[in-house]
Amino acid sequence: MKILAATSEAVPFAKTGGLADVTGALPLVLSEKGHDVRLVLPQYAMTKKWLDNNPQFAVQRINGIDVPIKGISIKCIVEELRYKNITVYLIKNNDYFLRDELYSTKSGDYEDNAERFVFFSRAVLKMLRLKNWSPDVIHLNDWQTSPIPLFLKTVYKDDPFYSSIATILTIHNLGYQGVFPSSELELFSGINPAEIFTMDRIEFYGKINLLKAGIVYADIVNTVSPKYAQEIQTPECGYGLDGVLKQRSHELYGIINGIDYDAWNPSTDKEILHHYNLECLENKRLNKLNLMNYFHLETGTESPQIEPDEKIPLIGLVGRLAAQKGLDILAEIFEPLLSMDIRLILLGSGEEKYHSLLQKIAKKYRGKISVNFGYNEELAHRIYASSDMFLMPSHYEPCGLGQLISLRYGTVPIVRETGGLSDTIEEFDPLSGIGNGFTFTEYSGKALLRAIKRACYVYQHNTDWQRCVSNGMNQDYSWSNSAIEYVKLYRRAVASKVRSSGIQKL
Ligand code: ADP
Ligand code: GLC
Repeated sequence: MKILAATSEAVPFAKTGGLADVTGALPLVLSEKGHDVRLVLPQYAMTKKWLDNNPQFAVQRINGIDVPIKGISIKCIVEELRYKNITVYLIKNNDYFLRDELYSTKSGDYEDNAERFVFFSRAVLKMLRLKNWSPDVIHLNDWQTSPIPLFLKTVYKDDPFYSSIATILTIHNLGYQGVFPSSELELFSGINPAEIFTMDRIEFYGKINLLKAGIVYADIVNTVSPKYAQEIQTPECGYGLDGVLKQRSHELYGIINGIDYDAWNPSTDKEILHHYNLECLENKRLNKLNLMNYFHLETGTESPQIEPDEKIPLIGLVGRLAAQKGLDILAEIFEPLLSMDIRLILLGSGEEKYHSLLQKIAKKYRGKISVNFGYNEELAHRIYASSDMFLMPSHYEPCGLGQLISLRYGTVPIVRETGGLSDTIEEFDPLSGIGNGFTFTEYSGKALLRAIKRACYVYQHNTDWQRCVSNGMNQDYSWSNSAIEYVKLYRRAVASKVRSSGIQKL
């Protein structure tokens, strides 16, 4: 098939979270399976930096295009390069994208986000004509690319170049919908606002909702785990879109994410000191000792050279510091948790209130907790490889990649039963030896603490613990299975497009 993956971020070009991992890995796997897959994303400052540092992936072709927006036409450049086995298009407009961050700074979201991503979406379609490449399907991701099917089914609906392109929207996180004032309707050049600003189109409580555009106009909608596909059809998790999603429930699917097994591999990982696998877990302990010493865990800054006790569990957490990730309930239990014989290492960046809370805790419990702010790929790898347990007490979690990476690294996940966490992690039962982690359901500090205590109890019983670790390491969460599911969805999207338009693909 000819597949275009359109996204606002993709590894290695730009990343703020799991979306980039998914859109960076899936196209490569699909291409290995013989499909013609191309990727398109904006060129950010971060992307430019990556290109400068990796001259072997040189830009091969440059073209300019005019993009209609707000009743005028704004120029951008399409850069093209070959990355591994796929073609990548970068949409370059420095006013919109050459910024320090992708969507927001500490003081809030960029004010022109609607304009930036409506522009990007339209530019993607203009670029296809420039390249004279009409894919069978465009795979959209989240609100940033959701205007694409709206354009296809309005301004371009009678244009033979576009009329047979099917679309599938993957919702990675319903918590982020791209809701903007109705005045932004002027961004949709060439479309009568009255045609799209209705309840069954993109109107949302008097505003416009870009994700809703994707849900309403895409041929197929899916999300990143079967459980989350169910949850988002309920008022508790639907964030106001549950009704619209329910209406499309016969075309709403859930496919669990995979992870890139080459990038995340404890036996070859360039970022870790001691490589290991299931047969040689001793090296995992060496990574742990090294990391604990490096971050002055256990003994405090006074005598970092003392080796920590190997029986003290090291618990890791890597993630965005946002309410979604369950930081509120973690904050409730810092005191009892840190009075236990455990060590905690955290890496993340996000909301200011969590930064200051964690700073205070780090000061108070020096030697027991190491708090690291910022985005740090290398440290993330070291934490996954060195920790005994990994915390994901998420309030909600569409899929979650942290727990999948942890399983691969023999690090036992402690998770709340929600969304993809619920689909991938099963409580370990020492009697049957079944299970790969520790889980809790109630969203409370108490329930989280009980799960951590159960994990710590099993940790003290070496044979049981090894069993739990190996259960996780033996699972396969590479992309190979889920990529097959995506191809099935692409075919469904094409079939649905053919049915609805009566157009026969040649
Ligand atoms: P989400 O996409 O909701 O943030 P996921 O669990 O799906 O959560 O994916 C998060 C991805 O981002 C993982 O690859 C994780 O390792 C990475 N990550 C999150 N925060 C950081 C950070 N501060 N430094 C490095 N990597 C991070
Ligand atoms: C989102 C979700 C996360 C998911 C990721 C990739 O950011 O919060 O659960 O794993 O997208 O799909």
